[in-house]
Amino acid sequence: MISVIFVCLGNICRSPMAELVFKDMLKRRGLEDKFEVISRGTSDEEEDNPIYRPAADVLRAHGITGEHLARQLTRREVVNADYVLVMDSDNLFDVLRLAGTAHSDKVFKLCSFTDDPRDVADPWYTRNFERAYRDILDGCNGFLNYVTKKHKLA
Ligand code: 4NP
Repeated sequence: MISVIFVCLGNICRSPMAELVFKDMLKRRGLEDKFEVISRGTSDEEEDNPIYRPAADVLRAHGITGEHLARQLTRREVVNADYVLVMDSDNLFDVLRLAGTAHSDKVFKLCSFTDDPRDVADPWYTRNFERAYRDILDGCNGFLNYVTKKHKLA
């Protein structure tokens, strides 16, 4: 099993969107048995809260549904994961501070797997959940391409 953790700040918008988008891709490709996929926040601010309604609405508009309750990332989860995929540079800094730079080789910005490496736009401030969805879709496609080749799953 390849263990993947998507990480954002609150674990109510971007990382649960990425978790559900990526699980949907795995299902379509018949690869869901090969991966363990979770999402976490660097903060405990939203602990136990469901996916933020506008984020869930955008997912549903794209045919993706699912439940998630926010949880804070732990050091142990990073240690045990194969890939920790963060949404932006702030998340990257926070994960490396939590887990130590010894684990930095498994931590990537999600959109570093695209032709246009960038942060996933933070919809909390822009209110543009569709833009965040498109960044996440692009990043998940790029990562799936990378990981299936690397682990010879395709
Ligand atoms: P997320 O979005 O990190 O994508 O889940 C946010 C959720 C909450 C806050 C910021 C971003 N906040 O400042 O409370």
